[in-house]
Amino acid sequence: MTLLELDDVSVTYRIAAGEVPAVRGVSLSLDSGAALGVAGESGSGKSTLAMALLRLLPRDARVGGRILLDGEDVLTMKWGRLRAVRWAEASIVFQGAQHGLNAVRRIGDQIAEPILVHGLAKPDEAAKRVAELLEQVGLPAWRARSYPHELSGGQRQRVMIAMALACSPKLIIADEPTTALDVMVQAQVLTLIKDLVAEHGISLIMISHDLSVLADVCDRLAVMYAGRLVEHGPSLEVFHDARHPYSKALAAAFPTVGDPVSRLAPKGLGGDPPDPMHLPAGCPFHPRCPVALEECSTLDVELWPAGDRRAAACVHVRSKEEAS
Ligand SMILES: Nc1ncnc2c1ncn2[C@@H]1O[C@H](COP(=O)(O)OP(=O)(O)OP(=O)(O)O)[C@@H](O)[C@H]1O
Ligand code: SF4
Ligand SMILES: [Mg+2]
Repeated sequence: MTLLELDDVSVTYRIAAGEVPAVRGVSLSLDSGAALGVAGESGSGKSTLAMALLRLLPRDARVGGRILLDGEDVLTMKWGRLRAVRWAEASIVFQGAQHGLNAVRRIGDQIAEPILVHGLAKPDEAAKRVAELLEQVGLPAWRARSYPHELSGGQRQRVMIAMALACSPKLIIADEPTTALDVMVQAQVLTLIKDLVAEHGISLIMISHDLSVLADVCDRLAVMYAGRLVEHGPSLEVFHDARHPYSKALAAAFPTVGDPVSRLAPKGLGGDPPDPMHLPAGCPFHPRCPVALEECSTLDVELWPAGDRRAAACVHVRSKEEAS
C-alpha cells in the first residue's frame, strides 16, 4: 500500500536576489514499511524536499504540486491537522539534529513532550514510555535525568531518534542522521535506525550524500541533481548498475560505509553543482557530464523508463529504450 505520494513537487525560495528553484517537479511514491534513500551532492535540494513533506519550510518558500500522506494532501491540510500529523504520522530527524536539543532541559522531559502534547499518555505514564524509548535506542533509562551536554554526539543522536519514535509514527524522515558523528558511531546509529524501522514496520526516507550507506539501509534509491530527480530504482541496482552518469559518479565515490574519504566530490567529476539561480540550459548535468552529447545542452530531459521500476533522466537511457 502506498503511504506517501509526491506528485510534481516543487519548492522555490524567494530571496532578495530573486528566486531559487531548489526542488523542481519531483514525483515519487513510498510504500508502507518501505525505505527510500535520497542521495545527491550538497545543494541538490534534499533537505528542502524533506522539509516540504511536513511543511516545515520558511515562509519565503513557495511549494507546488501535491504531497499525499496516507491519502491526505499535506499542502492543503488545516493547521490543527498538520500539527497532529507532525510526530504522530511522520517525524523528522534533522541534519545535525543533536545540536537541536534544549541545553537546559533534561532528556526525559524533551522526549516526553510530544507524547504529552499529543495526549498519548498521562504525565505519570509518560515516564514509563520514555524509559521504553531510551531502551529501544540503546540508552539506559536513567539517562532520562541527564542534560544534553552530559551525552556524546552519538548518544544525543540516539535521543533524537527516540523523540522521532515517541508518537509511533508511520514514517520517519532522517536527514543526514549521522553526518556529524565519527565513523564507528555512524555505523552504530545507522544499524539502529535500520533495525528500528524494520521491527516497527515504519516507513523511512533517509537522506545522504553517501550512496553506499543508502544502498545498505534502503530498498529503493532516488538520486537528485539540481533540484530534480535524475534516477530512481531498487537500491542495489542503482548502486551497482547506475543508468545516469551522475549516479554512477556518486556510486564510484563512496566505496565503503562510513569511510571519511567518501565525503569527497564524486569520482571523476570536475566542477561544482550548478547554482539553482543560474541553471545551465538543456540537461543541467551537461557541463560536468563525461558522456554528454552535443544535443545535451539544449535537450529537454525527463525521467525515461530504465527497466523494471527504474527510471533515469539521461538521453542515453532514452536511446536504449527507443532501440529496444
Ligand atoms: N532558506 C533558504 N533560502 C534560500 N535558499 C535556500 C534556503 N535553504 C536552502 N536554499 C537553497 O536551496 C538549494 C537546496 O538546498 P538544500 O539545503 O535543500 O540542499 P541539500 O541537498 O540538503 O544540501 P546539503 O547536502 O548541503 O544538506 C541550495 O541552493 C540552497 O542554497
Ligand atoms: S542527458 Fe546528456 S548531459 Fe545529461 S546525463 Fe545524459 S549524457 Fe549526460
Ligand atoms: Mg541538506
